[in-house]
Amino acid sequence: MTKTPTSRVDRLLSSMGYGSRSEMARMAKAGGITLDADEISDATKRISVTPDLPNRMKIDGESLDPLLGMVILLNKPLGMTCSHKEDGALVYDILPQRWKRRDPAISTIGRLDKQTSGLLLLTDDGDLLHRVISPRRHVKKTYRAKLARPLTGTEGELFAAGQLMLEGEDKPLAPAELEVISETEALLSVTEGRYHQVRRMFAATGNHVEALHRERLGGLSLPEGMAFGEWKLLDQEEIALIFQ
Ligand code: URA
Repeated sequence: MTKTPTSRVDRLLSSMGYGSRSEMARMAKAGGITLDADEISDATKRISVTPDLPNRMKIDGESLDPLLGMVILLNKPLGMTCSHKEDGALVYDILPQRWKRRDPAISTIGRLDKQTSGLLLLTDDGDLLHRVISPRRHVKKTYRAKLARPLTGTEGELFAAGQLMLEGEDKPLAPAELEVISETEALLSVTEGRYHQVRRMFAATGNHVEALHRERLGGLSLPEGMAFGEWKLLDQEEIALIFQ
């Protein structure tokens, strides 16, 4: 059996972005930290970090944030960047501000371009992140592309062949699946995550992607009715769907 991890309250809360250890000491003294409704007045106290802690611990009357190992599904809006440090609007701005101070940091699992919307996962679980983006796992990503020009009818075969070489690269793309929706709209499923891959694939056919939206990742879809900028935490069953 694995041992339940323990942590000092100040270290735990500080790693979750609530503030510095001395701020946590002051908050504890002021009665702002409770466990099972009992005040923890000494922030150096060691507690067991059990999965139910967010239901049992309150910080200023609010339930504790999710512990390490969170996976967030976000419907990324257009115009936001998947970066921790670029100028302009970042996808991290959508989440609670203190989550920017969490250690380990929350990162996007792969990236969507600034001008791509749709299903984006974020996590503080480095192992999971690497499993999802590993080319060996072949996790399928499905994009809806709106095109500037009508499809010619040859794209599906070209993408499926696994021989398409993108400009400036020396290894052909893995086979990808095209589902034609209309003359100028298609769903494209790829298992790799090369730079601007979908836009460059259509560019290689002489077309141009005018709008790009990711709808699915593995067996996970964007929940029906989820608006741009909305997000939710995934449970273990939903996380498992990524690899289906
Ligand atoms: N392919 C692209 O061209 N852009 C994305 O954001 C994702 C896949």
